Amino acid sequence: MTTDPYDLPDVSGLVVGVLGGTGDQGRGLALRFARAGQKVIIGSRAAERAEAAAAELGAGVEGADNAECARRSDIVIVAVPWDGHAATLEALREELRGKLVVDCVNPLGFDKRGAYALKPEEGSAAEQAAALLPESRVTAAFHHLSAVLLQDESVREIDTDVMVLGEKRADTDIVQALAGRVPGMRGVFAGRLRNAHQVESLVANLISVNRRYKVHAGLRVTDV
Ligand SMILES: NC(=O)c1ccc[n+]([C@@H]2O[C@H](COP(=O)([O-])OP(=O)(O)OC[C@H]3O[C@@H](n4cnc5c(N)ncnc54)[C@H](OP(=O)(O)O)[C@@H]3O)[C@@H](O)[C@H]2O)c1
Repeated sequence: MTTDPYDLPDVSGLVVGVLGGTGDQGRGLALRFARAGQKVIIGSRAAERAEAAAAELGAGVEGADNAECARRSDIVIVAVPWDGHAATLEALREELRGKLVVDCVNPLGFDKRGAYALKPEEGSAAEQAAALLPESRVTAAFHHLSAVLLQDESVREIDTDVMVLGEKRADTDIVQALAGRVPGMRGVFAGRLRNAHQVESLVANLISVNRRYKVHAGLRVTDV
């Protein structure tokens, strides 16, 4: 294993699955990874919804139900709402065994004062995923992306860093490399899963920025 943090593996041959890939975030990620040359499978609770979304995206994207998506993919991104997070993962424990799981779920609440971070019992969505999937390689990333920008093909580069968290360097390296496949995007290692809560929560602050300035804000980590 390399010790150079900038030396990342070639992930171009890995199949990327997106659970809940019919939603805004999932479609956006699927589009960007497919355009970057990655094989992508969109997952859904209903195979026909996934197939329809995949056909719209083109670029060789396929659709399947979430179970088949998980089974056929090397890297599985979890892009379902927080409400459906635990039940979705529990039902896919077998299919996700040994897989590199990337959780991008932000547990948020919304009220008249805007968005705020929820406090999951396990500490974070990512830690809930790790608890529910002890035989998977759970990481967390892609929390701070704008689904609007991801889906807008007139936006050529996604100008943001992606904070990547996880327990195994080999796994976070793969996720960093995947982020780096998208023009403008860069994956930065940002710690273990016990520090995922504040990364997930920061989205509440970004939503405040977006509302105040009418933008789709991203994040950069400087001096890296
Ligand atoms: N939107 C963003 O800009 C953004 C950015 C970063 C991270 N995220 C995170 O990404 C996740 C998805 O966001 P989104 O905006 O794409 O959400 P969404 O459109 O509300 O949901 C995504 C997909 O999840 C499936 N789904 C809905 N309810 C479900 C349930 N109870 N159980 C299982 N699957 C369910 C649906 O697909 P089917 O009906 O086809 O199964 C839906 O199309 C969220 O956890 C969010 O925090 C979003």
